[in-house]
Amino acid sequence: MARKKLMAANWKMYKTPQQAQEFLRAFLPLVEGHSRDEIAICPPFVCLPAVVEALAGQSIGVGAQNLHWEKEGAYTGEVSAGMLVAVGCTHVIIGHSERRQYFGETDETVNRKLQAALAAGLTPIVCVGEVLQERESGLTEDVLRRQCQRGLRGISGDQARTLVIAYEPVWAIGTGKTATPQIAAEAHVVIRAEAAKALSKAVAEDMRILYGGSVKPDNAKALMSEREIDGALVGGASLDPKSFAAIVKW
Ligand code: 13P
Repeated sequence: MARKKLMAANWKMYKTPQQAQEFLRAFLPLVEGHSRDEIAICPPFVCLPAVVEALAGQSIGVGAQNLHWEKEGAYTGEVSAGMLVAVGCTHVIIGHSERRQYFGETDETVNRKLQAALAAGLTPIVCVGEVLQERESGLTEDVLRRQCQRGLRGISGDQARTLVIAYEPVWAIGTGKTATPQIAAEAHVVIRAEAAKALSKAVAEDMRILYGGSVKPDNAKALMSEREIDGALVGGASLDPKSFAAIVKW
């Protein structure tokens, strides 16, 4: 059976609650009745309640961009999976390269966060991807295998039924350089093979692997037409309602 694509917006550190509501007022009419793909919006933490409220009655997911693995505790500045569920979150991004690069995220913290997200019933979007130097040194496969092996350690196929992985080559993020559909597809095949080993062949076969990195309205169709690409994780181009709607409707 074909996998339903997931078109997810990662707003990163952009938009206040009011700006989020303005975005949705413009965006919702543009995607009304669109049921071919799933849609999710991942705003900053402080916008989550406003986005949940604005999306009441819509079948659009709401995701956080990070979480902590503990249920609660003395962890200043952190937010738990249970707290995200309590405000109406359905999805959560884990291990984005910006968190790995600037905030010390490792494959081990990704693994702990993934366990917590799955236990809370959130749909995790785990990000993996190589930096330019790794690609140029021919290390892309090794990096993807390592990130998947360590990130998925100890997780069973049964637990991981909702798991989504996003392939985000770091050299394509915010640079305007997009991976070609072929480059992305090759990486997705490696990721799916690792997921099959870690989880099960059946779970890996059903698992959605998104592509992220300079997805724009004018390249979305070529990327999304590739059989191995099961959706997009969109940064910059998801901040404008018209542009994200055009990507969703590729
Ligand atoms: P851009 O779409 O801005 O390249 O960002 C991609 C990304 O990091 C999505 O998580």
